[in-house]
Amino acid sequence: MSSLEKQIAPVVKAIKDGRKATFFLGAGVSTSCGIPDFRSPKTGLYANLKRLNLPYPEAVFDIDYFKEDPKAFYTLCEELYPGKFLPSKFHHMLKLFQDKKLLHRVYTQNIDTLEGIAGVHDEYVVAAHGSFASNHCIECSEAMSTTKLKQLMTDKDTNEGIPKCASCDGLVKPDIVFFGEALPSRFFDLWDEDAENVELAIVAGTSLSVYPFASLPLEVGKSVPRVLVNNEIVGDFTTNKRKNDVILKHDCDTVASALIKALGWEDDFDAQVKEIEQRFEKNSKVLEKADDSKASESSDTAKKIDQQQSEEELLSRDLVSEAEKAQQQEQLSAAEESEKLADKIEKQMEGLRL
Ligand code: OAD
Repeated sequence: MSSLEKQIAPVVKAIKDGRKATFFLGAGVSTSCGIPDFRSPKTGLYANLKRLNLPYPEAVFDIDYFKEDPKAFYTLCEELYPGKFLPSKFHHMLKLFQDKKLLHRVYTQNIDTLEGIAGVHDEYVVAAHGSFASNHCIECSEAMSTTKLKQLMTDKDTNEGIPKCASCDGLVKPDIVFFGEALPSRFFDLWDEDAENVELAIVAGTSLSVYPFASLPLEVGKSVPRVLVNNEIVGDFTTNKRKNDVILKHDCDTVASALIKALGWEDDFDAQVKEIEQRFEKNSKVLEKADDSKASESSDTAKKIDQQQSEEELLSRDLVSEAEKAQQQEQLSAAEESEKLADKIEKQMEGLRL
């Protein structure tokens, strides 16, 4: 038995005992698909943004910075736009959990939609940081279709490829959650329901540095087995390691392969990969054809705007980075220590809480 097989044995047992898995995912599950993660020192997106002249790397996803300089985001947006990437082994494994009725939920910070492309149904997926599936004007909230957004984004002659609202000329952006914006209400609503019902927590491919997502693993019940699949040990697994935590400091796909083998799911896996690859190829051909015919369409037709309104209700709890969170926590402890100024500081804290 290899050392990885030994390490995953308790996880395999929990799954065979019928515990449903709740996944908490980050960019590391998609790096093998060709999408960089954010914070890996050499290969991560944030280490490779010099060309955008940002004041700090995370500014590219900051709503205030976007209002000042939307070009930086739109330069990246084209590169990251979903549609050209195939799911990883790890994504395919999620679909197998669903097929075996062993999937409880997939909380993902990723905006690449690869869980869905692998066939995981929407009801299981919580896109905590939003997705590219819809777009809105940041001023008047008018919706813009994805076709229109892509068309404006690639048309560098008009407004340098920055999509603007047809009604108010405000900036339009995909509904991915930027720093300083609220997470979708679905995230908070479902976590309220799910937090108590996690039977097996599998955290994978995330540095757990962005809140409130990073706090989910510590909100899981103390008796629930937690598994970390990551190149490095992160977040609550470093600061509050629990007795029954399983730390798998390995590549996500390596662990997926080992789990699939140990669970006897290899044939299902092969069939799943084949099906998705065939579907992807077929879709690519359809898209190519659509692009060809679109090129010959009249500009009037291309100018049709999708007026569909978003149903996503936003909450006041915004996305914050680890640095901001640390700053908030520092202020919280200062408040606790200072009895004399308690009332005053309490008021200040109110404004800082998520
Ligand atoms: P990060 O880049 O912060 O973390 C990715 C983690 O995955 C790191 O710990 C890597 O070491 C690890 N990793 C990378 N490839 C891996 C692999 N193949 N196998 C195992 N581990 C691997 O990405 P996230 O945690 O997803 O938000 O980042 C969270 C949020 O920060 C993102 O959603 C994004 C970003 O700012 C927004 O843009 C709104």
